[in-house]
Amino acid sequence: MAHLDDLISTDILGYLSAQENKSFLRFITCGSVDDGKSTLIGRLLYDSKLIYEDQLASIERDSKKSGTQGDKIDLALLVDGLAAEREQGITIDVAYRFFSTDKRKFIVADTPGHVQYTRNMATGASTADVAVLLIDARYGVQEQTRRHAYIVSLLGVKHVVVAINKMDLNGFDQAVFNDIEVDFRNFAKDLGFEEIMCIPMSALDGDNVTTSSENTKWFKGPSLLEYLESVDVDSATLDSPFRLPVQWVNRPNLDFRGFSGTIASGTVEVGDEIIVTPSGKRSTVKEIVTFNGNRDIAREDMAVTLTLNDEIDISRGDIICKIDAPAEQADQFQAHVLWMSEKELYPGRQYLLKTTNKTVPASVSNLKHRVDINDFSEVAAKTLGLNEIGVTTLSLSAPIGFDAYKDNRATGNFILIDRQSNETVGVGMLDYALRRASNVHWQDLDVGKTARSEQKNQKPALLWFTGLSGSGKSTIANLVDKRLLDLGRHSYTLDGDNVRHGLNRDLGFTKEDRVENIRRIGEVARLMVDAGLITMASFISPYRAERQMARDLLEEGEFIEIFVDTPLEVAEKRDVKGLYARARAGEIKNFTGIDSEYQAPENPQIRINTVDMSADEAAEIIVKYLEDNGFLAGYDS
Ligand code: ADX
Repeated sequence: MAHLDDLISTDILGYLSAQENKSFLRFITCGSVDDGKSTLIGRLLYDSKLIYEDQLASIERDSKKSGTQGDKIDLALLVDGLAAEREQGITIDVAYRFFSTDKRKFIVADTPGHVQYTRNMATGASTADVAVLLIDARYGVQEQTRRHAYIVSLLGVKHVVVAINKMDLNGFDQAVFNDIEVDFRNFAKDLGFEEIMCIPMSALDGDNVTTSSENTKWFKGPSLLEYLESVDVDSATLDSPFRLPVQWVNRPNLDFRGFSGTIASGTVEVGDEIIVTPSGKRSTVKEIVTFNGNRDIAREDMAVTLTLNDEIDISRGDIICKIDAPAEQADQFQAHVLWMSEKELYPGRQYLLKTTNKTVPASVSNLKHRVDINDFSEVAAKTLGLNEIGVTTLSLSAPIGFDAYKDNRATGNFILIDRQSNETVGVGMLDYALRRASNVHWQDLDVGKTARSEQKNQKPALLWFTGLSGSGKSTIANLVDKRLLDLGRHSYTLDGDNVRHGLNRDLGFTKEDRVENIRRIGEVARLMVDAGLITMASFISPYRAERQMARDLLEEGEFIEIFVDTPLEVAEKRDVKGLYARARAGEIKNFTGIDSEYQAPENPQIRINTVDMSADEAAEIIVKYLEDNGFLAGYDS
């Protein structure tokens, strides 16, 4: 290594102990592609002399060959060389770089500045103590700057360095610096930062990066590195309440049952009284087992296994807390969501919500507003697009233990996952539980589903007909309904055209309205199944996600997906209602199959090909399916 601390040769033990006791600072750098982020990180690594000699030699070589800085070393190559590796998918989106000085150890989260930046930024910022926001002095505060500042504030970063870079290009003009500083402070005043430090810089030449620059005598503040070495961010997390999100239940044999995970905050001691959220079960800590043997006390960031003095039920994702300060539990929340997918967020659609170690189905029950990051105003919105931020209410299918994000970043954050693609589509911060909503209990009625359906001599089911307009869904559903009636069974059909005259009169055919249409139908159908009815739902229901949502409302096996698979050409040729012709003529917008998408089922329980089969034959197949799967007790045809 190019730099060896003198202590190493004279007092190796002293050196090692000094290293051990140095405090840690995590920071993130944010900026657009050309703001000089890579050069800045490269400069920090270079000047702190923690670059391996062979790495250095190769950068010097490459700088001459392909660098953009003439005879100077192009430090961006140091970072970008690693970025190339990232593009090949070898490393993850956020590269964490480690370096240290005599005073402190640092981890810098370097996040690429391309379009998908918010996802990476959010990941990096969620654990950062300090954010370094780069601004190109030629352009001042940009929309991107505002967005980054907002996101880091949302993610709980309290200290911000505004690195006003490329000051060499304006001759280190103090007036330019002052204007940008005033501008930034003005817009950031309500973002809740504890400290904003603006530093004039040239990352390229090293001005005010590690040492104060001769070119900015008018600037009385520290260099970036001096600031990072001295900023006081001592986290309050050791004083924070104890939280152990359980990662797995460790049960190697009948005599041992431990709960393993990494302590998210606070400390725990043998003998402490604990409470588990969301179950509310209690016990006391018997042992704290770690990789290096048992301990009496453990603290934040340690991987531990707790054993307890009582046999209580704890599962993955539960949070073990101390009795004096338990986490909350709820299934309805207000939350900030940062959307990270090209596919927009739709209220009503179901996603998977993942907190530390726990995943539950959840839907955005309401999008209260979008945040305009230019002036932080609240804008009415029906959806959230890529990189947009909104305030939402969330409804989970089961309660979780949690803390408000402002109180605990580890137990207050979540991600949203698309159920079909498994892609992470949003990150969020829990603001608070909606108590009103969680006080609404499902009233257990004395007469249950089983009693109701036995009386009807059947097992209830939801036959979900999906397919293009004019594919034949309603015709077939109608025939099935008639046959069931003839067989003395109890059934009911919910039909798109009919329901849209009443319950869903307020809905049209935009994507968000269709999502809401199916959400309501799913809920109504569930009540009908609960009443013991064989229920038929006949809706285009073009999106897989909503059909899945309807399926999830029911018990295993109750939801039977029937794909009425009529090709568009055939449905269009039949054009029973004359709607295709009108859609082609541009009179009807968002018409499924024409200018609105239809996502065909991948594994329907029943597929009906109406080209080869009559409606009667189709109905027969469906009734046969019900018979074969035990829905029609005593069926004899
Ligand atoms: S869904 O997409 O939200 O599931 P739904 O099944 O309720 O649709 O309603 C579809 C029926 O509404 C069609 O069969 C057709 O008669 C009528 N309709 C009117 N406008 C449209 C449109 N733009 N796209 C599809 N169907 C439409």
